Amino acid sequence: MEYKITTHNEEETIELAANIESEKFPNMVICLNGDLGSGKTVFTKGFATSMGITETITSPTFTIIKEYLYGELPLYHMDVYRLDGATEGVGIEDYYKKGGVVIIEWADTIEDILPKERLDIKFISSDENKRVLVIEPHGKQYEDICEAIL
Ligand SMILES: Nc1ncnc2c1ncn2[C@@H]1O[C@H](COP(=O)(O)OP(=O)(O)O)[C@@H](O)[C@H]1O
Ligand SMILES: [Mg+2]
Repeated sequence: MEYKITTHNEEETIELAANIESEKFPNMVICLNGDLGSGKTVFTKGFATSMGITETITSPTFTIIKEYLYGELPLYHMDVYRLDGATEGVGIEDYYKKGGVVIIEWADTIEDILPKERLDIKFISSDENKRVLVIEPHGKQYEDICEAIL
């Protein structure tokens, strides 16, 4: 099952992220894919704000993983683009079980070590402000969330 949602501006993407956030649970993993500038970080910002994280969320391209530990649940925001698939020794898998929410930008580049149960969101940018978000739940918990809010 796959859901396609079209957003027409940044605010609509933030609103969708907030809806998903309202169904968050410990050890939730959200995998974001799509070209540069397609809205992955905008989505993450919307999610984080909804969690009560007030700090500015920036793309953690240089740090790979940024931790926000004071929201309703811990948030682990990753941008794994620069790893270029070299995940050994980084400890990414440890984050799946820390009890927080994990959001991974460029998740496809580390496909081999993604958890089986997760929410995949692909951002397809067709013009300046329009984005098609293809949302694919893997596992019952994620399927239920999609049914509830999409
Ligand atoms: N519908 C939309 N959803 C999300 N972002 C949008 C949308 N329309 C325009 N934008 C703009 O696209 C850019 C997305 O940037 P960003 O989220 O950093 O991309 P990524 O993290 O995928 O590289 C932002 O400048 C944002 O304002
Ligand atoms: Mg980004």
